[in-house]
Amino acid sequence: MKILGIETSCDETAASIIEGKNGKIKILSNIISSQINIHKKWGGVVPEVAAREHVLNILPVVDEAIKKAKVKKNKIDAIAVNYGPGLITSLIVGIETAKTLSYAWNVPLIATNHIESHIYANFLDEKKIKFPALILTVSGGHNMLVLMKNHEKIKTIGETRDDAAGEAFDKAAQLLELGYPGGPEISKQAEKFKGRKTIELPRPMMNKPGYDFSFSGLKTALLYEIQKDKNWKNKIAEYSHEFQQAILDVLIYKTIKAAKEYKVRTIMLAGGVSANSELRKQMTEKIKKELDINFLIPNLNLTTDNATMGAIAGYYKARDKKFTSWNKIKVDCNAKL
Ligand code: KG4
Ligand code: ZN
Repeated sequence: MKILGIETSCDETAASIIEGKNGKIKILSNIISSQINIHKKWGGVVPEVAAREHVLNILPVVDEAIKKAKVKKNKIDAIAVNYGPGLITSLIVGIETAKTLSYAWNVPLIATNHIESHIYANFLDEKKIKFPALILTVSGGHNMLVLMKNHEKIKTIGETRDDAAGEAFDKAAQLLELGYPGGPEISKQAEKFKGRKTIELPRPMMNKPGYDFSFSGLKTALLYEIQKDKNWKNKIAEYSHEFQQAILDVLIYKTIKAAKEYKVRTIMLAGGVSANSELRKQMTEKIKKELDINFLIPNLNLTTDNATMGAIAGYYKARDKKFTSWNKIKVDCNAKL
């Protein structure tokens, strides 16, 4: 089954073609047109600008995905589109394009949730996943621990009460006068730190019961530290290292705790923050040491926003005949991203 995926929830215009067969996915194309350079100068995504860029880019991106995959349009079996959460005016561009193509080509439409799609970036080979699975899915817009009993039963057991980890990285990078997006910049700086630790930031919610997170106080703690440190500009690597480690300690601790409580058989990472090399490394080590169960991480090019993840989620829905008629698809109004 060949699926065209479309993703426009934030500042990436993306289209992808995948082929799914018996729970195995082949990626035929994965085109992403990023607007990062456009939004950089404002230090974050400007929704109106993002939507206009999507309008300009969407058809060339879809066209490129089809050409790169060397697939004839009449061989596409379904179109999967992420309907939210995301920036409303950005989402509309992808959704209307998907609806129009579905109508014109007479192929079924599949509505996929953006967060669910991030999770499905791990589902290239269904055999590798043993249920129940626990997924730590963390990006700029969401920060959740999700328990998955099967493709139908997906439950959030914890989420952030304020900022997501990616958002915290982005805001901390602004405080430290690093670029946008903040995660990769903080991670680059953190790698440079080799000395003895002199700064201590809090590990929010670490010892509170339950699986919720909170990262806005951590950013404020960083702000207070640099306000009283006249020399902070010479210690950016150390501040970045401690900030990153504070986030990782909480994410890893809560994931391991939930994995033990729910006796899961697989742990997965998902979302933009799963591109973080220290998170990938430290989580791998911790799971090996404490649980020794199956651990999956998405390929790097499937961590931040892309359309392949939605196409994969779409394949599993199409396999179960979960289509959405073009006049029923609804945009999920969620301004959190
Ligand atoms: O999934 P994504 O592309 O978009 C949302 O759905 O939000 O995630 C983007 C987020 C940004 O906040 C960015 O700073 C973060 O993922 N991110 C990282 C890294 N790469 C991207 N955070 C930490 N380390 C990274 N290497
Ligand atoms: Zn995302």
